[in-house]
Amino acid sequence: MVRDFLDFNDLTMAQWDRIFNLADDIYENPAKYADHCKNKILATLFYEPSTRTQLSFQSAMLKLGGSVIGFSGVGGSSVSKGESLKDTIKIVSGYADIIAIRHPKAGSAFAASLYASVPVINAGDGVHLHPTQTLLDLFTIGKYKNKKFTGLNIGICGDLLNGRTVHSLLRAFSMYRGNNFYLISNPDFKVPEKYLKALQTGNQIFTCEAIDECIDGLDIIYMTRLQKERLVSLDGVPFETAGYDMNLILDHTKLAKAKSDLMILHPLPKNNEIEASIDDDERALYFKQAELGVYIRMALLIILLENNTNRTSAEIQREEAEIRCENPNCILNDDDDTSNLPLLVNVNAGDACAYCEVEA
Ligand code: CP
Repeated sequence: MVRDFLDFNDLTMAQWDRIFNLADDIYENPAKYADHCKNKILATLFYEPSTRTQLSFQSAMLKLGGSVIGFSGVGGSSVSKGESLKDTIKIVSGYADIIAIRHPKAGSAFAASLYASVPVINAGDGVHLHPTQTLLDLFTIGKYKNKKFTGLNIGICGDLLNGRTVHSLLRAFSMYRGNNFYLISNPDFKVPEKYLKALQTGNQIFTCEAIDECIDGLDIIYMTRLQKERLVSLDGVPFETAGYDMNLILDHTKLAKAKSDLMILHPLPKNNEIEASIDDDERALYFKQAELGVYIRMALLIILLENNTNRTSAEIQREEAEIRCENPNCILNDDDDTSNLPLLVNVNAGDACAYCEVEA
């Protein structure tokens, strides 16, 4: 098992199964795990807003008998006084046994893992990845599809460009074969190619601009909202309306054509991409999906803490790199956090930045 949980695909499929099986057991027998993390402390460092990820991590640790510290938004922390990511992580490593971090910059969780002497969990790093969301997405699919991850028709709809949950999910599904993916989006919001490369082997990928093009054959539709907070300079596309095309809104008329056992998933929060009354349709599983996030995060905390051998800073390998990443949204270009600069490790491993994966 890896020390940190940064990218879902850092784990082998056997390790995925171990997490899923443990989460199943916790779900069935929660009392058995009530003291499993007694005397352990989770720090939730959320530089960006969150309801589900933050609270479900906190709930998970409390259900395991542990304790939680952290901040929710930087306003109440010394980040607002200019404290760097590096200093924050080094300090919190002395206060907690494990850290879950959400940050607006891609690669921030990886950067944090280089400074931390305790395990670091990526709770969402900019537009990059959201691997614990993928854990609960697959856990939910497994529960409703009898752990069958092949032969599925999977629609993924909405802001596929900026949705980190989509990026992580597609990358995870690249480990399976025999699925058909229907990527439903406005042409301005298509999935970045890098998340499709591995998926193309053994799977079929179709591009759609309307839910109606594929809804009748889908086993799963994974809806996502427009990531408005990422749209700071979208040339020529009105901010308020970008991506909000009626063809991309799931309503009763479209749902009438769907299978009776369609799974409607959404990482949440949702805006208007799903007609509100669909919440009452038995195929709408997104609230259950969010609930299952607690159990899968309990399993993840148990396994990472069991596995943990704390590193001293001398063991943390670092090297200075001269080439900088050109992605303005990469942690390496965080203007508010210039003291991050010496954290570089293999920045240009291959052709892409090791932090944000944007190609040079
Ligand atoms: N799915 C998800 O990440 O939700 P939050 O932003 O509320 O954590």
